[in-house]
Amino acid sequence: MAPLMQALGLRYQYADGTEALRGVDVHLSPRENLFIFGPNGSGKTSLLLRLCGLLEGPGDILLDGTPVSPKAPGTLRRRVGVVFQDADDQLFMPTVMEDVTYGLLNLGKTTDEAIRLAEQALRLVNALELREKAPYHLSGGEKRRVALAGVLAMKPEILILDEPTTSLDPPGQRELLRILAGLDQAKIITTHDTHFAQALGGRALFLEHGLVAGEGTVRDIVRQFSWEVGPAFARDGQSDN
Ligand SMILES: Nc1ncnc2c1ncn2[C@@H]1O[C@H](COP(=O)(O)OP(=O)(O)O)[C@@H](O)[C@H]1O
Ligand SMILES: [Mg+2]
Repeated sequence: MAPLMQALGLRYQYADGTEALRGVDVHLSPRENLFIFGPNGSGKTSLLLRLCGLLEGPGDILLDGTPVSPKAPGTLRRRVGVVFQDADDQLFMPTVMEDVTYGLLNLGKTTDEAIRLAEQALRLVNALELREKAPYHLSGGEKRRVALAGVLAMKPEILILDEPTTSLDPPGQRELLRILAGLDQAKIITTHDTHFAQALGGRALFLEHGLVAGEGTVRDIVRQFSWEVGPAFARDGQSDN
């Protein structure tokens, strides 16, 4: 069976000449979690933006084995939902409800239907009681959940999240973990939080300088690249033993 999503030889060069992606392959099965690890500047965010159709460049993206035509990047944007690293980049309407219904109304849903789908999505992320609040009054964790609701309301088949645990406190991280574990969508997630990744479980890619340096289970990749804060501190002599 063809993978749900397959990307072949993705490249991306920014206007200043920076080669952020230098030929990256990705495959994703239904319901699978794929983590993208790698140092700052290795191309993680560029890869996500390329996979959701917000950046365009050389390489092919296939959904269910069918190439997405470069002439119809809208196909990708309809089927792939992305939650940006900074929720402030995502939330811009005066109230949470207006924010979550915004995309639905743009798709041509009636107001009643948009509100129904938005309520459903807000309930999924445990944020229905925030519906009349102004997004800029929300805590970091609440903003993240509302941004996720705005994406889930559109019912994407693939969910992309860029460093979703950044700036969340431990209860906020556990809440996000619980929500993500309960979602059916296949997910592509960048993170430095290997505990979060191991708790959710799945496969991982390790990016370096815009190339895939390793691929395997989360556990294998963390071990192969010593990609954990604890052991690094221990090597620096800061552990008690
Ligand atoms: N808008 C931009 N213009 C020029 N270079 C950029 C831009 N955004 C990112 N880059 C560069 O592209 C490379 C990959 O960046 P990014 O995808 O953000 O990496 P990561 O998310 O892994 O930190 C880095 O060298 C970064 O400096
Ligand atoms: Mg990034």
